[in-house]
Amino acid sequence: MKKIIIDCDPGVDDAIALLLALASPELEILGIVTVAGNVSLSFTEKNARKICELANRGDMKVYAGCPRPILRSLETARHVHGETGLQGVDLPEPQMPLQRQHGVEFLIETLLQASEPITLATLGPLTNLAIALIQAPQIIPKIQEVVLMGGATGQGNVTASAEFNFYVDPHAAHIVFTSGLPLTLMGLDVTHKVLTTPERLQQIRAIASPVSTTAAAMLAHYGAYDVEKYGMLGSPLHDPCVIAYLIQPELFLGRNLHVAIETTSELTMGRSVVDLWQAGQQAPNVHVIQQADDEGFYSLLIQRLSEL
Ligand code: RIB
Ligand code: CA
Repeated sequence: MKKIIIDCDPGVDDAIALLLALASPELEILGIVTVAGNVSLSFTEKNARKICELANRGDMKVYAGCPRPILRSLETARHVHGETGLQGVDLPEPQMPLQRQHGVEFLIETLLQASEPITLATLGPLTNLAIALIQAPQIIPKIQEVVLMGGATGQGNVTASAEFNFYVDPHAAHIVFTSGLPLTLMGLDVTHKVLTTPERLQQIRAIASPVSTTAAAMLAHYGAYDVEKYGMLGSPLHDPCVIAYLIQPELFLGRNLHVAIETTSELTMGRSVVDLWQAGQQAPNVHVIQQADDEGFYSLLIQRLSEL
């Protein structure tokens, strides 16, 4: 089993990613750390607990991390994920506790105590990991790799230049991308090709379990925004691609490239500058995923959701 810590901002696609991770025996989830992003931290931490209980995992440890980006004020994506972050469903108030320890402290303590390096899966703004790196740089050798959802080689989704996670906290992204950590980047170039088409949504609905019915209801609402905005055939499942990569990396193809984060110009704030043609002199620092087997991804997702 791969020991992992998930950092997320549920958010509908984060919720699907958590369900996929909780359904996958290949992964040993040491804890779920939440961050402000899609919605405020008070919602993201509660949503993470709601999803754990939906998956009958009230034993999972859920932590609240940072309530805002390092420098910029928080900008959310309520218009995409709804006021609560899980639009389309009304899950019961969680009974499982929120852990008292701060999510950043959990990250640092767990990594320093680990007998072997741990994989981090980040699905939201990188505030928690960046703060942990500043507070305790000695965690770096205890991190096996960081698989991140964020960025884009091409167009952004929150501005013409920037993807949401990196736009919300570009300074945190800069800290992570200059840390020397082994990074694998799952950006919009890939996730915008992993679409929950009506046929795939019907396959999820047809599982007809409480989990799949809830997942389908969330996805039906979540998809409307992207379908209208991009004219897509369905909602892009950004965050679940990170979890699928951890389970079946062969579903994805990537290249080692240099990536830097823009933190000065308001015009391009949060842009991931990917040196696709290695025009610059800087050595590659990121494994940038460029292709996904979307059919294989949905086969995995539907199979695992049916087992929850
Ligand atoms: O740009 C998409 C990313 O931003 C996803 O992680 C989504 O959940 C939001 O956090
Ligand atoms: Ca997210």
